[in-house]
Amino acid sequence: MKNVTCIDDLRTIARRRVPKAFFDYADSGSYGEYTLRANRADLEAIKLRQRVLVDVSDRNLETTVMGRKIAAPLILAPIGLLGMQHGDGEILSARAANDAGIPYTLSTMSVGSIEHVAEGTGKPFWFQLYVIRDHGFSKALMERAIAAKVDTLILTVDLQVLGQRHKDIKNGMTVPPEFRLKNVIDIATKPAWAWSVLNAKSWTFGNITGFVPGMENVNSLAKWTQDQFDPALNWKDVEWIRKFWPGKLIIKGILDIDDAKLALKTGADAIVVSNHGGRQLDGTSSSIAMLPRVVDAIGTETDILFDGGIRSGADIMRALALGAKACLIGRSYVYGLGAGGQAGVAKAIDILKKELSVTMALTGTNTIADIDGRVLEGGAPAKKKITTKPAKTKATKSTA
Ligand code: GLV
Repeated sequence: MKNVTCIDDLRTIARRRVPKAFFDYADSGSYGEYTLRANRADLEAIKLRQRVLVDVSDRNLETTVMGRKIAAPLILAPIGLLGMQHGDGEILSARAANDAGIPYTLSTMSVGSIEHVAEGTGKPFWFQLYVIRDHGFSKALMERAIAAKVDTLILTVDLQVLGQRHKDIKNGMTVPPEFRLKNVIDIATKPAWAWSVLNAKSWTFGNITGFVPGMENVNSLAKWTQDQFDPALNWKDVEWIRKFWPGKLIIKGILDIDDAKLALKTGADAIVVSNHGGRQLDGTSSSIAMLPRVVDAIGTETDILFDGGIRSGADIMRALALGAKACLIGRSYVYGLGAGGQAGVAKAIDILKKELSVTMALTGTNTIADIDGRVLEGGAPAKKKITTKPAKTKATKSTA
């Protein structure tokens, strides 16, 4: 991966190597992509505060999420059809995350199944749940995850109905890929991709096909969601999941203060402030614009995680400064996977970690716990002031 110096480089390579339908699937947002663009634009607009002559020789990226130590404030987000970016993409991403000491989350809509990933990694990973109309199947998915030693469940609550991504329709994106002339020409020019995917165990939704009768021929994501996802999902179901799931529970897809307050009542261990990477409701505020409002409303006693547009270590710093405990990254590592398999994911993680470390140095911070509103231009209030617990001495330090 010589000459790759930033996430954008990985995107450029992935675009060349991955068939258009799958590259576009990951890269796009819904409808006019206003929210997708807002996620990036609002992050870019947040100015950091340069500090000098602070001893930053002892920087450390370690942090804790839900009481557990991780090597950096980074989590690999659940990604549908990850194995279509590169054969065995789920296993390769999980291995890269394990090597880096950060969590990997397997999506319900992955290509590799829970069992396949457990066997291929031998290490614990997180699992993301979509609730299907047949709640018995959702329960069975959770049981399979428990059997695979998954101890953290991310329940995604913002995709019971699919936001349309125009490109998926225009590209005729199907799973498994349909060998129509247009696709064949595209795939023929991507031999490394074709080789990796042909050698993978599964070419379709590995967690579903073979487990749900009549689901052998799923091929339109939109149709599948429409037919199978439960649009009646509500807070009562979250209570049921909370009771059933023995491990940590994270609710992903909270973008509203009232929803954040309701999420807390369920006893979730963490929430993710997210608009699904601009892939669902188009026209919402950016994720980063909502983050401080959610933090203000519910404090930071329950870990608040963030996703939506993270492409650099500076972006991670921005989200942490506004109260996030850690960031989920999606496209940033998907591009890495498409560009170079496991090495590409490792590269993406490494880029983000190094950038974060340099950003810490130049803002005069040594530890993740040191990062708060003081690293932003104007020295916004320290985030720890807003917790509902009695503030610790350090957190109330002046921002001068
Ligand atoms: C699935 O989670 C998607 O965003 O396509």
